[in-house]
Amino acid sequence: MSLLIKNGTVVTPENTAIADVYVEGETITAIGENLPHKSESTIDAKGSYVIPGGIDVHTHLEAPVGGTTSSDDFETGTRAAAFGGTTCIVDFATQSKGQSLLAAYKAWRLKGTKATIDFGLHMIVVDVGNGRIEELDDLVREGVTSFKLFTAYPGVLMVDDGMLLQVMVRAKSLGALVAVHAENGGAIEYLVHKALTEGRTTPIEHALTRPAITEAEAVHRVIALSRIAEAPVYIVHVSSAEALEEISRARRKGFAVLGETCPQYLLLTKEELLRPGFEGAKFVLTPPLREHADQEALWKGLEDGTLQVVSTDHCPFFYATQKHAGLNDFTKIPNGGPGIEHRLQLLYHFGVRTGRLSVQRWVELVASNPAKIFGLYPRKGVLQVGSDADIVIWNPNQKYKISAVSHHMNVDYSMYEGMVVEGNAETVISRGEVIVNRNNWSAKPGRGRYLKRSPFAAASSTVR
Ligand code: URP
Ligand code: ZN
Ligand code: ZN
Repeated sequence: MSLLIKNGTVVTPENTAIADVYVEGETITAIGENLPHKSESTIDAKGSYVIPGGIDVHTHLEAPVGGTTSSDDFETGTRAAAFGGTTCIVDFATQSKGQSLLAAYKAWRLKGTKATIDFGLHMIVVDVGNGRIEELDDLVREGVTSFKLFTAYPGVLMVDDGMLLQVMVRAKSLGALVAVHAENGGAIEYLVHKALTEGRTTPIEHALTRPAITEAEAVHRVIALSRIAEAPVYIVHVSSAEALEEISRARRKGFAVLGETCPQYLLLTKEELLRPGFEGAKFVLTPPLREHADQEALWKGLEDGTLQVVSTDHCPFFYATQKHAGLNDFTKIPNGGPGIEHRLQLLYHFGVRTGRLSVQRWVELVASNPAKIFGLYPRKGVLQVGSDADIVIWNPNQKYKISAVSHHMNVDYSMYEGMVVEGNAETVISRGEVIVNRNNWSAKPGRGRYLKRSPFAAASSTVR
């Protein structure tokens, strides 16, 4: 099957210019002006950007969190992702305490058999006792080349500094990357206990018991550990100016520290948790939403390269049922929010249209950098000859109203309900197959392939 995408404004690492893209089978085989190629199908992309499919490297599909399971599985979650222009995700397989890492990996591979777009897996490592550390080598052989560890959630996911260091050293020797959810779990536990003792139980307490300093302290410590290990580190979902400053200082000194933020931290504040009734629970996610000044700092961090990636941390729970578990106690609200579908739209509307980000930078943040950092480049994340034909035709002028009524995520609310954004994925192509065409969906569950990812070092030096 061949496909010619004509007359679009094609975004490549070198430039953004009008060109044609030719696809044979699953692969891009030519990019150039007025390609003479004959094709079985043709798309006229005049007036639209032609960009590499988005890559979301922080999703939790069908994930066990806080005694329940996130409501999107690999079928519904990847379909929603595709509607928003994301053609590849890297989801988190999660080890439970005492479980073999390989068993956890296999369980997530099974969940992934329903995927509609290609996917990779990180591993959330909670326990490397009893010789489990050696299983990290097996994971890397399976293409799991990044491990996420938590300095928060004592008793569940939190690891101590010694274990974090041990994993960093092992990961370095394997060419794998350690990603960290950085918050001071002990301090938060103390503040939560105090709040509950004082009878403070409503959703806003989630944010008040996790102040920015608990994030900044942990980021500082994690960076110190990465220096001891002489290993690179990637800080997930950076939410505050204080935490960002730690990353910025480390990078200025030349340390290998990378970081991501998410649309919710760029666009929403903790005021949302004060919504009437129990509505604030819709915005209980971790780290919590912060202040306007934090948003400003994070935008600057994206502009100046302190942060390299925008992911979603998509972790949806139904408001009417799952979030209500915490009606009388904010600690029982499952942590997480939906977002996999709207990442490109939100960043385009609030980043590119406002002039904060160039189109080129937008593509770096949502596609190229995630691919480079997580071992998928140049197979994914770039339009170039030989790359997978994961392509989005992006109409910069299409207005789109975000709403739970029309979104494709399996969840009963949107954090951006009623927001009108300009710019949308009109056609989405995954390995040469058109899977979204305007509002029409044509992909079968299970067509998404598991991606064995390369070691970290390969393309990371070109990340901007
Ligand atoms: O609240 C969140 N972010 N839930 C998902 C798990 C995590 O911490 O990334
Ligand atoms: Zn996290
Ligand atoms: Zn997460």
